Amino acid sequence: MKIAVLQEHRFGETRIAVSPETVRKLTALGAEVAIQQGAGEAANFSDKAFEEAGAVMMPSAADALRDADIVLKVQRPDNNELGLYPKGIKLLAILQPFHDADSLKAYAAHGVDAFAMDLMPRITRAQSMDVLSSQSNLAGYKAVIDAAAAYGRAMPMMMTAAGTIAPAKVFVMGAGVAGLQAIATARRLGAIVSATDVRFAAKEQVESLGASFVVVDEEAMKEAETASGYAKEMSDSFKKAQADFVAKHITKQDIVITTALIPGRSAPRLVSADMVASMKPGSVIVDLAAEQGGNVEGVKPGEITKKSGTTIIGYNNMAGRLAADASNLYAKNLYNFLVPLIDKETGALNIDWQDEIIKGTALTRDSKIIHPSFGGEALEAVPVPEDAVAVQSAPEQQSAPAK
Ligand code: NAI
Repeated sequence: MKIAVLQEHRFGETRIAVSPETVRKLTALGAEVAIQQGAGEAANFSDKAFEEAGAVMMPSAADALRDADIVLKVQRPDNNELGLYPKGIKLLAILQPFHDADSLKAYAAHGVDAFAMDLMPRITRAQSMDVLSSQSNLAGYKAVIDAAAAYGRAMPMMMTAAGTIAPAKVFVMGAGVAGLQAIATARRLGAIVSATDVRFAAKEQVESLGASFVVVDEEAMKEAETASGYAKEMSDSFKKAQADFVAKHITKQDIVITTALIPGRSAPRLVSADMVASMKPGSVIVDLAAEQGGNVEGVKPGEITKKSGTTIIGYNNMAGRLAADASNLYAKNLYNFLVPLIDKETGALNIDWQDEIIKGTALTRDSKIIHPSFGGEALEAVPVPEDAVAVQSAPEQQSAPAK
């Protein structure tokens, strides 16, 4: 079995889909791992480290892909790259199918069997394969570090002979994986932290980290969680009550971290331009949802802007700003997904297409779209995010042609 690993070429992508550790494990399972030269550079994994782990380094994507059974990626391929894929190859990547429904047609047309790692079912068995969790956790940490760097004051309370510095007030909106890590990080830095979420289940988790939780409407919040643990779109009256609270609360905050997402939809707008204007000069907002449309009015994806004295950070791919750790964890997620697909006796691929994890992630098979969320009929219905609808394609990032 041959596994190809390519250089990511979407703008700003620093991660790679394998690490020396997972290459070592995959070769131990009998796989041949062919990596495009330089693919690990941005994550500080050298070609030499990969070679020592047992990989073969290839001068181009086309060379790495020759006769490959599987291709491991971080980002979805563009049409140039797809043109290099051998028919029948299995593609594992963060494919964001709800943001780019047309890409499924392209995978099917090229005969690529595509698996969206971002659609991993949230079941116990798949926890070690959950790429959204592993990457969001790092994003939440880095959001606070970036905010602290942009904030022209100290985070903890300091009592000095020259006077006392007040602790920073940090408000986290969205207390899922990224939000909880942001809370923990801000608390470690000594900030006073408050948080909110639409899911009432988040209250206990927030409080266990030493932050206060803001309840908007307890009954509505108890109904806000889908079976897969994600948030639903809230009613207009809830949104109004939430906005009224945020308008009052935000004026007293120094740092706001927003992480709110609803699967398959644009990010909910939680902070208006007026709310930003009401903050003290020198305040900082980090919008982790910038790439999905933004929780904050006026955020520019991929940019840092300043609005009436408040810095708004809208970096795309926050996890990629910690490229080595993000790659290590992502690579482990892919490895954990791959192992059950490899026949231990023969070392060949043996996919159980009826397995819940495969049904949840497989988009295409044998030139057909099979995922039920995208019109696939080959499989019976599987749990998919409630209310999921295809949203408009995210603005395409610049990409260099595949070599
Ligand atoms: P996410 O990235 O889709 O959303 C981030 C957060 O934003 C969520 O907590 C969501 O409730 C919140 N949100 C959405 N709309 C909002 C609004 N209008 N106002 C305020 N907050 C809003 O979610 P994430 O972080 O991937 O996971 C959510 C939950 O899923 C976790 O907290 C956990 O309970 C569960 N989970 C379960 C796993 C498993 O069982 N394998 C793995 C990872 C997470």
